[in-house]
Amino acid sequence: MKPLAIIGGTGIDELEGLEVLRDHHIDTPFGVPSRPVQEGRLGSATLYFLQRHGSPGAIPPHRINYRANIWALRSLGVDGIVAINSVGGITPSMRPGRLLIPDQVIDYTWGREHTFDEGEEGSLMHIDFTEPYDKALRTALLTAAETAGISHGASGVHGVTQGPRLETAAEIQRLARDGCDVVGMTGMPEAALARESGVPYASICMVVNPAAGLGDLPLTLAMMREILASEAAVVRKLLSELLKSRGA
Ligand code: HPA
Repeated sequence: MKPLAIIGGTGIDELEGLEVLRDHHIDTPFGVPSRPVQEGRLGSATLYFLQRHGSPGAIPPHRINYRANIWALRSLGVDGIVAINSVGGITPSMRPGRLLIPDQVIDYTWGREHTFDEGEEGSLMHIDFTEPYDKALRTALLTAAETAGISHGASGVHGVTQGPRLETAAEIQRLARDGCDVVGMTGMPEAALARESGVPYASICMVVNPAAGLGDLPLTLAMMREILASEAAVVRKLLSELLKSRGA
C-alpha cells in the first residue's frame, strides 16, 4: 500500500514518534513547498509529513503555497492526505479540546492561488466538489476514532476565512447562520487542490478556542497553544490507529 501523507497545522511542527528517514526537497512548477517533505516511519508504517506553516511555523495562512504543497505530495505518489487544522468552535458542542472530522466546507478566502487550472487549452478543471472530503478516507478516520475511543464530531461544516486576523463577533454570527460548525484559515484552497490532483483528502479539525464573541476571554495565541498541546497527543493517537487499520 502506498504511504499516506499528513499535513500538520499550528502546534504540530513535528510528528512526534516519526522516525525521519529522509527529507524530500521538491521543486514544483508552482515553487517550493512550505518545507521539505519528511519521509519517515511511525510504528511499522511509512508516512510523509509536511508542516504547512513551514519551520518554525512562520508562514501565515494567506501566504502558504498550497499549490506547491499539494503538488509535492502528489509527486511522491501518496495514497491520501490527512490534513490537520486548528479551528475555533462555533456550534456549542465544538468546545476547545474537541475534534471534528468535517464533511463539508465553506470557502470565505480570497486572493489565494486556488487552482492548478491556468486556463491552458484542454485544462479546464470543473471538479466535482459536492463532497469536498474523500468518503473512504473520512470513514477510515471515523472508524479509527471510534476504535481508539476518541470523542469526536463525525460531521460538520468547516468555514475557512482569510486571516491572519481572527474574525469579528458579527462575522462569526454570519458563519453560524451559514451553517458553519467551526472556523479555520487553512482548509482552503488545500482541499480543492487535492481534489484537482486526484489525491484523496480528509481533515481533522482540532478546536482550540471558542470563535470570536462566543467565549468569556479575549482570544490569544497562548490560549490556543495550551489546548493544542494536549489535542496534538489525541490526534497522534488517532493517526496511529488509522495506520494500524490500514495494516501498516
Ligand atoms: N478563527 C479562525 N481560525 C482559527 C481560529 C479561529 O477562531 N482558531 C484557530 N484557528
